[in-house]
Amino acid sequence: MAAPAHMPGEDVWQLFDLGAGLSPADLSTHLSKVTKLCKAWFSADGVSLFVRLEDSDAFVLAAQSGADRELPGASSFRLGEGIAGTVARSGEPLILNGPVDHPQVGRSGGPPIGSSIVAPLTATDGETVGVLNMTRNLGTPRFQEEDARTATALSRHLGFALANARLVARLHASAERERAMAAQTNLILNSLHVGVLVVDAVGRIEQANGEASRFLRQSDSDIVGESWLKIVGRLPKTLGRALKTAHDSALRGITQRHDLPKVAGRYLTAYTTPVPRGGVLLVIEDHTEQLETERELQRSRRMAEIGQMTAALAHEIRNPLTSIRGAAQMIAADNSLEGAKKWASVVEEEALALNSLCDQFLEIARPLSLHTDDVNLNALLETLASRTRLEASENVSIEFRPLAGKPIIKADGPKLVQALRNLIRNAIEAMPDGGELSLGLRRSKGFVRILVKDTGIGMTDEQVAKLFTAFFTTKPKGTGLGLCNARRVVEAHGGAIHVKSRVGRGSTFEIRMPLEASA
Ligand SMILES: Nc1ncnc2c1ncn2[C@@H]1O[C@H](COP(=O)(O)OP(=O)(O)OP(=O)(O)O)[C@@H](O)[C@H]1O
Ligand SMILES: [Mg+2]
Repeated sequence: MAAPAHMPGEDVWQLFDLGAGLSPADLSTHLSKVTKLCKAWFSADGVSLFVRLEDSDAFVLAAQSGADRELPGASSFRLGEGIAGTVARSGEPLILNGPVDHPQVGRSGGPPIGSSIVAPLTATDGETVGVLNMTRNLGTPRFQEEDARTATALSRHLGFALANARLVARLHASAERERAMAAQTNLILNSLHVGVLVVDAVGRIEQANGEASRFLRQSDSDIVGESWLKIVGRLPKTLGRALKTAHDSALRGITQRHDLPKVAGRYLTAYTTPVPRGGVLLVIEDHTEQLETERELQRSRRMAEIGQMTAALAHEIRNPLTSIRGAAQMIAADNSLEGAKKWASVVEEEALALNSLCDQFLEIARPLSLHTDDVNLNALLETLASRTRLEASENVSIEFRPLAGKPIIKADGPKLVQALRNLIRNAIEAMPDGGELSLGLRRSKGFVRILVKDTGIGMTDEQVAKLFTAFFTTKPKGTGLGLCNARRVVEAHGGAIHVKSRVGRGSTFEIRMPLEASA
């Protein structure tokens, strides 16, 4: 009978160190060491260690010790396959006594095998993560029950160590992934042309891109980790106060856009969003350049418009001038007082027409300055409707239904009335045989729509396309400037005019005005 497995204390400690912190890179070196130790402790002639591939039922040879020809023949097996596979599935160790000839345990060719121990490596959750396999040649003492018990205890420890090593590997991988994600997020954030920062629930700046640091500190140094209040406290007073208000509104769960006070000629807007785990996300945008480009564009569009109008005006002036010249010639030729009077009044009439043309042209060419105030659109339209009822002929009915609540907008009241009167006059003029004029108000998201609808002659698509061109008119006495003026006033308020029309059915003009406040 052979002596039971002998494990010198020093060796055992080496084994326990294994479990403590096996890094994935060290794993194969350690497993080789284990097979060597086992060979010595159990006086085995061959030791092999199989480990299970992750998320698979395949086991592969990870380390071995002993002369080649004495080693198990197979380098891999599946759960349930052969002796080792059966042990892996049952989780129970096995002693095989007597000659064994099995690819996973022994192989004919070398010295015959007299006995073997096959022990499962089990992880804490009971899963078999590997198989330890030890053989002794025929003619040497056989393995005993006690060897099997020791081998089982050892295998269990190895199982834990192996599972641990895998856990560590997974942790390393996920930490690595997280680092890569964080680096990518930073790259994205820093390539943005807006400032992005997160203030945590206790008021510390948790994250900030370069642009945010530049906005808030006017320098490139990082503001992460600093107190939000301290940072805004150092800003110009009005800006700091506005940013604090924006931040506080998000703390109360409100997602909002805040136009910040103009500082050092810059137009800034902050967008705030509450962060679900507490804290606030702030996005700060500097749209000074964009605004300037837009203004420049508006200016050049306007210059082009005025150029076009001037050309048209020259053309418009020619007709009355021809009449005036004709009348003057008639005066010169006609000696009678009666005749001179008649032609002089033609001169006066045409001169007046020219004067009014010039007035209207100047009105359009002059920069428009608005004097805005709260305007209640219900009251404004009610007044317009009453006044129109007085002016229009009886066969035109005028209708206005006010909007529920008080639709109040910030606008230049008199200029808005002027624009609407142009639309109303056109509507009445489009219904020479009578019809219905309805004035309406609708509330849309962020806008109020003012509708002027008639049941008049309507327009073709070609007419609609030319509508807002200066001097476009189909009326003998029209200037063709009414709609131009109306659009200019509406656009100066940040609004827009749209038209829908059908020949013979009527037209609807819609003015969209930004809704500043409503009750
Ligand atoms: N409600 C409408 N129905 C049909 N046609 C219209 C309507 N409103 C405008 N138009 C057409 O658009 C043209 C231009 O209108 P705009 O108000 O600019 O000038 P006008 O009415 O001709 O002249 P002015 O306004 O100086 O008296 C009109 O001549 C007409 O052909
Ligand atoms: Mg008109």
